[in-house]
Amino acid sequence: MKTIKSICCIGAGYVGGPTMSVIAQKNPNIKVTVVDLNQQRIADWNDQDLSKLPIFEPGLDQVVEEARGRNLFFSTQVDEAIDEADMIFISVNTPTKTYGKGVGMAADLKYVELCARQIARVATSDKIVVEKSTLPVRTAQAIKSILDHTGNGVKFQILSNPEFLAEGTAMTDLANPDRVLIGGEQTPEGKKAIEALVNIYGAWVPKTQILTTNLWSSELSKLVANAFLAQRVSSINAISELCEATEANVEEVAKAIGMDSRIGPKFLKASVGFGGSCFQKDILNLVYISKSLGLNEVADYWEQVIIMNNHQRNRFANNIVSNLYNTVSGKKIAFLGWAFKKDTNDTRESAAIYVADKLIDEQAQISVYDPKVSATQMQSDLNYLNTRTETENKTYLKTKTDPYKALESAHAIAVLTEWDEFKDYDWQRIYEAMIKPAFVFDGRNVLDQEQLKAIGFQVQSIGK
Ligand code: NAD
Ligand code: UGA
Repeated sequence: MKTIKSICCIGAGYVGGPTMSVIAQKNPNIKVTVVDLNQQRIADWNDQDLSKLPIFEPGLDQVVEEARGRNLFFSTQVDEAIDEADMIFISVNTPTKTYGKGVGMAADLKYVELCARQIARVATSDKIVVEKSTLPVRTAQAIKSILDHTGNGVKFQILSNPEFLAEGTAMTDLANPDRVLIGGEQTPEGKKAIEALVNIYGAWVPKTQILTTNLWSSELSKLVANAFLAQRVSSINAISELCEATEANVEEVAKAIGMDSRIGPKFLKASVGFGGSCFQKDILNLVYISKSLGLNEVADYWEQVIIMNNHQRNRFANNIVSNLYNTVSGKKIAFLGWAFKKDTNDTRESAAIYVADKLIDEQAQISVYDPKVSATQMQSDLNYLNTRTETENKTYLKTKTDPYKALESAHAIAVLTEWDEFKDYDWQRIYEAMIKPAFVFDGRNVLDQEQLKAIGFQVQSIGK
């Protein structure tokens, strides 16, 4: 089996950057080059000031500091890195299609196909091509078809190696993965390629946790893992509404069911709804695949997870309006948090964006504080929805870098992200600076409800 000396990863995003940093850290003898078309992103990865890395992930800066310049490189020279590499990871974005057949559901594979075509054009020696992006089942067939028709005699093996890291905990997830999944062709060459990738992970992951399967099981398992995780969130969120109507407490219910070892305690936190770039996209993809195969009941079953999530976000916004005497027009609603979860600067599909949009429809003034998200990012998230003009969005959505300023003179506070620092604020001071009655809508159940009530706040949580 050929020893892998050089790796190229196409896509320096939330997955490519951290994943390759850890592979380089744990395999100092392998040269790892992460390439991207986005020059600014690569410049940020190369910034000497580690606080300027394009992604905020606890612990990422230390790993980059250790490996960068030694055997980890970030570059825009895509062709060069492809040609030099023995193994190429494709880690580009696979968003939901916004046009044509499958619009709003199917995964848009144009970036993946462009990578395959670029590899086919540039490669002059045999390569192992690894799907790191999350892809519809059987995508490897399309990649193989492109790579097998170069006519220059170069041989390719395709592997599927989906990534299971969660943002905010990416570095610990990568260092101690529950499992690493590698799918490949069940031919002698395919098995050799699988072994080459097993050895790279084997530098730090126990072999018993490295699963090898056929290509299609691996591709499908990634979509299914995300669907099951999101389904748990939608399930507990459905129960949160039932709790609110019956005086049951969703945290008590979650604890009671989670102690059943068959159910387990994780991923049962009721919330304003799941966000992030992947859950919705991957379930829609699963629904689309099922529909395309004529499996309508399967499609309907999984689509319900998304329907429930949209309902939970809307319900949260509607609840704010109804509690504020059915009008928020001209009222200041302060948001604590904009990121889709704590410990990340990622805002893709964050519930905050949708709740803000709905409240702005009601002419509320939104004032946001998030410790890691910039004002420009928030405006661009809202503009992306295309609900109103950019100028209108600017007048309705203001961002503050000081939380106390964001909350001053507000009629209500809405907690949209569970950042730890929110718990330690001076809530007495916040209360005094607000319009009375002062409302708190805790979309993450992170604040001490009893303490806030004792101060004088009107508090609403999820499922309590
Ligand atoms: P991202 O948007 O952060 O990064 C993708 C990068 O690829 C971008 O920087 C883009 O400029 C670059 N790119 C696109 N086409 C290119 C090309 N032809 N050549 C060079 N660079 C190109 O996306 P991400 O969050 O890292 O996700 C990547 C994939 O991993 C997706 O399929 C996603 O579903 C999957 N995934 C994401 C996560 C996560 O937590 N974000 C976790 C597991 C899996
Ligand atoms: C998720 C999966 O957990 C990863 O395994 C997967 O690799 C990744 O998607 C992906 O494919 O992109 P991520 O979206 O980064 O990771 O973060 P999660 O921790 O899964 O949270 C997703 C959303 O669900 C967040 O908005 C979070 O606040 C919400 N959530 C999560 C809840 O509301 N309740 C919970 O109990 C758990």
